[in-house]
Amino acid sequence: MTVKTPASGDLEPIETASRDEIAALQLQRLQWSVNHAYENVPHYRKSFDAAGVHPSDLKSLSDLRKFPFLYKDDFRANYPFGLFAVPKERIVRVHASSGTTGKPTVVGYTRTDIDNWALLMARSIRAAGGRPGDMAHVAYGYGLFTGGLGAHYGAERLGCTVVPMSGGQTEKQIQLIMDFKPTIVMATPSYFLNILDELEREGVDPRNTSMRVGIFGAEPWTEAMRAEIERRSGIDAIDLYGLSEVMGPGVACECIETKDGPTLWEDHFYAEVIDPRTGEVLPDGEEGELVFTTLTKEGQPVIRYRTRDLTRLLPPTSRAFRRIAKITGRSDDMLIIRGVNVFPTQIEELILKQPELSPHYEIEVRRETHMDEVEVRVELSPQHAAMPEPHLEAVVKHLQHSIKTFAGISTRVRLMEPGALTRSMGKAKRVFDKRHL
Ligand code: DLL
Repeated sequence: MTVKTPASGDLEPIETASRDEIAALQLQRLQWSVNHAYENVPHYRKSFDAAGVHPSDLKSLSDLRKFPFLYKDDFRANYPFGLFAVPKERIVRVHASSGTTGKPTVVGYTRTDIDNWALLMARSIRAAGGRPGDMAHVAYGYGLFTGGLGAHYGAERLGCTVVPMSGGQTEKQIQLIMDFKPTIVMATPSYFLNILDELEREGVDPRNTSMRVGIFGAEPWTEAMRAEIERRSGIDAIDLYGLSEVMGPGVACECIETKDGPTLWEDHFYAEVIDPRTGEVLPDGEEGELVFTTLTKEGQPVIRYRTRDLTRLLPPTSRAFRRIAKITGRSDDMLIIRGVNVFPTQIEELILKQPELSPHYEIEVRRETHMDEVEVRVELSPQHAAMPEPHLEAVVKHLQHSIKTFAGISTRVRLMEPGALTRSMGKAKRVFDKRHL
């Protein structure tokens, strides 16, 4: 399905449509997508048949809950191209995300899919406050990861000048930011912190650069992190969400006027939130696992894909579409410490409440004499690096106490010198779980 590009800078009519119009469009596209998957991908034919459902059973949007889920493992089982729904000659691009173990997850796009992706990324950048004529510095990695090329095509489509910097080479990033004067910067939030550190190290106040908007995603980050980034850089920090199995960046993006969680581009994706244990669909507002069905994808449609991302569906605000709350974390990142569930984002919130601490942290879990031991390593912020010993002890005690009070677990806290922890060039690795080594 091809979708027309709007006049640059204006909202597309669907962004201000009524909920009825959106639901009607969704149903029509959903019926097409489910049928397309069933007719062209053996995996769906098998799984629908096994569940006793047929595309013709889909008479209303809520009928989708009768259909079986698609899991990350289904991508592996059909590696590399088994989930494609069109002949290989029609696939113009593949991307892949490297899992921590085993084979990468491969995704394929037709020309129309690439076109829709550019349109939705352009829509995302516009929601974030970008306009034609802006210069966008793209520091997401280019390559098999969807971040770089996804952001690139969208920025070009909107009419921006793109600087395809990719991740890494932080000094070079700084040079280009100082010389080219981009107004938009796109990076993982953790990598943008490295850029800010480097600017400050070089004696530049990030608040005096040309950067106006930062479009950050690809990893969980908290409201506290947003506040920290905005305070240090003076930019508007906007949350961009996406995942390769569903498309890449641009599945949802925050609007600059409200900054209240990413708006889902519901004309291209149908979202459900389910109870991850029972698979039941939950009412809007309740926290659970996000599940996506693509409505327009030709190359590799996904029907009820279990993202493992935990969030809530929220009512529309700046656009006609619903939003998601900031992602709490992936179910895979959830640590179970002596029976208590903890997300790295909870620890991040607490670290950032203490001005002596920087947002550079990692969490290590070990099992010692049958007990889980958690160590939180966190760098001091540069202004507080030379504190006298008793003050340092007070900082440690305070953090231990707040983690115990708000997250419910006992931890050992180790303060580190600024710059001591390994920096990420893309997605930050926060958790080192050494219990099962
Ligand atoms: O990370 C796509 C992307 C690139 C999104 C650039 C935004 C910006 P994957 O590598 O397949 O794709 O990883 C997808 O990253 O399921 C989430 O767990 C996490 N994630 C992505 N965006 C956010 C976000 C890209 N804004 C996985 N907040 C997803 C929290 C995010 N987590």
